[in-house]
Amino acid sequence: MRKPMIAGNWKLHKTLKESCQLATELVQQLATIEDREVVIAPVFTSLAGVAGEIANSPVQLAAQNCYPAETGAFTGEVSPALLKDVGCQYIISGHSERRQLLNETNQFINQKVSATINAGLGAILCIGETLQERETHQMLEVLTNQIKEGLAGITAEQMADVVIAYEPVWAIGTGVTASDEQAQEAHAFIRGLLQGLYYQEVAEATRILYGGSVKPNNVDGLMAQSDIDGALVGGASLKAEDFIRIVRFE
Ligand code: 13P
Repeated sequence: MRKPMIAGNWKLHKTLKESCQLATELVQQLATIEDREVVIAPVFTSLAGVAGEIANSPVQLAAQNCYPAETGAFTGEVSPALLKDVGCQYIISGHSERRQLLNETNQFINQKVSATINAGLGAILCIGETLQERETHQMLEVLTNQIKEGLAGITAEQMADVVIAYEPVWAIGTGVTASDEQAQEAHAFIRGLLQGLYYQEVAEATRILYGGSVKPNNVDGLMAQSDIDGALVGGASLKAEDFIRIVRFE
């Protein structure tokens, strides 16, 4: 019942021209994909251009961030409504790089999730523990707080527009993937949290993506786990061949 989603987070990579080229390649190769959602998240300056390339294709567009206000004196920021206007279907919030580099809090991330849903877009909420938190047995507490505080005020009905991405910080960009079992264990725990916060139907319907060094050679094992519903891919999403293989997981 949960349609798998493979999302590529391009982070701070690629010019407008390079972004459009990669998007065009993906559209050509993935034109007939129906049984899984494919999402790409280029940098802001490439969004409108890429939207043109992927129009009328199954490839969907996500922004990597937003600011939780509609309009106003917020120099340098971009609202969910404007991201929708250029063709985004999703907005990523709470990525660990923003939590760490820009000190984003669960409360601020929660405002973004809420603003995203209110603008009529899907929210991809990223959570995940650091290595230190895992090693000092704080992982479950950290995930619990990230879920509870990140989803504060989000109703059961609104959860239809939320996708969770579990990205253990120690696995991001390191080439070290969580084992299939480690990832499944965390995903099952997160689904249990959703059941506690909402109810069983919500927990069962919510997609939980895994992120952290997902590659062509490890995606199949991860996707075989019962609570892993997709992947949020960084480095391997920058190369058409690798990302397409990940989308075509078996
Ligand atoms: P990598 O796939 O490069 O580890 O990045 C994962 C990630 O942060 C996706 O959001």
